[in-house]
Amino acid sequence: MASSPKPWNREKEPFAELISAEAIATRVAELGAKITEDYKDKEDVVVIGVLKGSVIFLADLARHIALPIELEFIGISSYGDATVSSGIVQITQDVSKPIEGKHVIVVEDIVDTGHTVSYLLENLKTRRPASIALASLLHKPDRQARDVKIDYLGFTIPNKFVVGYGLDVAQQYRNLPYIGYVTGA
Ligand code: PRP
Repeated sequence: MASSPKPWNREKEPFAELISAEAIATRVAELGAKITEDYKDKEDVVVIGVLKGSVIFLADLARHIALPIELEFIGISSYGDATVSSGIVQITQDVSKPIEGKHVIVVEDIVDTGHTVSYLLENLKTRRPASIALASLLHKPDRQARDVKIDYLGFTIPNKFVVGYGLDVAQQYRNLPYIGYVTGA
């Protein structure tokens, strides 16, 4: 029988919990059910995960979408290993097939300044999908510099540097099962 991940040694982690694994699981199931309802009459649905931060969210969300979907990934980078967005966005790896005529759902871990996803949505729209929607686990409105409509939002969060459930600190801790914020302790 499958078991839950072993708890990390919280006393040693330089993070405080912001959103528990349980709260994430509940919200992701709700988002999956909403997507299932909204797309139940659609064909050719493609869910595009934005590497690397979205992979954990995408893996869980996809299993709550009770419809045949294709999974694709796109590599896009704006931060590198820095903790502040440079505003410079690059596609580092493209999707494997054309999206023309398909119903696209872009999956992000976080909309922070909004630069990354604004660039990405504009780019994908030029490829003439039938529709395009955005799912993001997190939104940090205090930092938003670009107007972004998030169709499926997990949580609105305060202006803290967050980590876990796909989000990294210098490429580490993406596998933390909850969302924490860096305390520096
Ligand atoms: C992070 C995150 C979003 C973007 C959000 O990606 O996954 O794609 O930054 O920031 P923005 O709204 O200010 O543009 P990052 O470039 O850190 O790459 P990663 O997903 O590989 O961690």
